[in-house]
Amino acid sequence: MRTLLGTEDLDRSSLDGLLDDAEAFLEVLDRPIPKVPALRGRTVATMFFEPSTRTRLSFERAAKALSADTLSFSPGTSSLSKGESLKDTVQTIAAMGADLMVVRHRAVGAPARVAEWTGLPVVNGGDGAHQHPTQALLDALTIRRAKGALDGLRIAIVGDIAHSRVARSDVFAFATLGADVVLVAPRTLLPVDLTGWPCEVSTDLDAVLSDLDVVYLLRVQTERGGASVFPSLREYLRRFGLTRDRFARLRPDAVVLHPGPMNRGVEIEAAVADDPRALVLDQVTNGVAARMAVLFHLLGGADA
Ligand code: CP
Repeated sequence: MRTLLGTEDLDRSSLDGLLDDAEAFLEVLDRPIPKVPALRGRTVATMFFEPSTRTRLSFERAAKALSADTLSFSPGTSSLSKGESLKDTVQTIAAMGADLMVVRHRAVGAPARVAEWTGLPVVNGGDGAHQHPTQALLDALTIRRAKGALDGLRIAIVGDIAHSRVARSDVFAFATLGADVVLVAPRTLLPVDLTGWPCEVSTDLDAVLSDLDVVYLLRVQTERGGASVFPSLREYLRRFGLTRDRFARLRPDAVVLHPGPMNRGVEIEAAVADDPRALVLDQVTNGVAARMAVLFHLLGGADA
């Protein structure tokens, strides 16, 4: 594996390998000194051209736990404000000695272009509404730890699918790992073309609720126009939100995931978000280990 740009091309054995390594790294993170020397001497650059809390910080935590150095690029205080191009920016950071770049950008395909321009291994930290592969890995890890395996599980991904890079990455990863995936959204929040997506589609959350093992809620992306198709956010909650009433109708062993940041009171009621069966903070913890596994694979790990 040279880059990680999406999940469509990851086969079952690659996914299982990354998840197995992530499990091992969770054990490392639980040690009194949560660090191994696997990537000593290597430098990971986090290049986030869009806001992030979880992805950026967990990549930095992951790199440090593997003993790599980090370079953290912030667009607001950079020479982008003087008109420097994306290409010149990433080539500049590469020339400082970065060995790998994690790239988040609003433009679909930007991480792939960065890989071409720099010749470095690149991890897609989220490009537009296209892909967010490490989110899918940490989600799969969280479900696997809660349920033992994804094989045969019924997973609903609910909400603003049209604007979601998480939905696309999750659908392909979950299906490859053997889950039965259903997208649930109003027609207006579904992508125009779902050709090739290995999933079913429903516009009625209440109709699918009782069969689910996992409910995966997506954030309504107000900044990308996700709220504009509803008269109000209250109306969204009524039709597609995981309210306390809907939560009570789930199977008792069903679990709830959300990639964060959550809009409490929109896609999820606060009481559900705080229930022990909502695994949102487990997802965050597992994200560090999943990203350690990705960095370890791309930078050669013990062979480095
Ligand atoms: N889930 C996710 O990508 O969160 P951030 O935007 O905070 O990185």
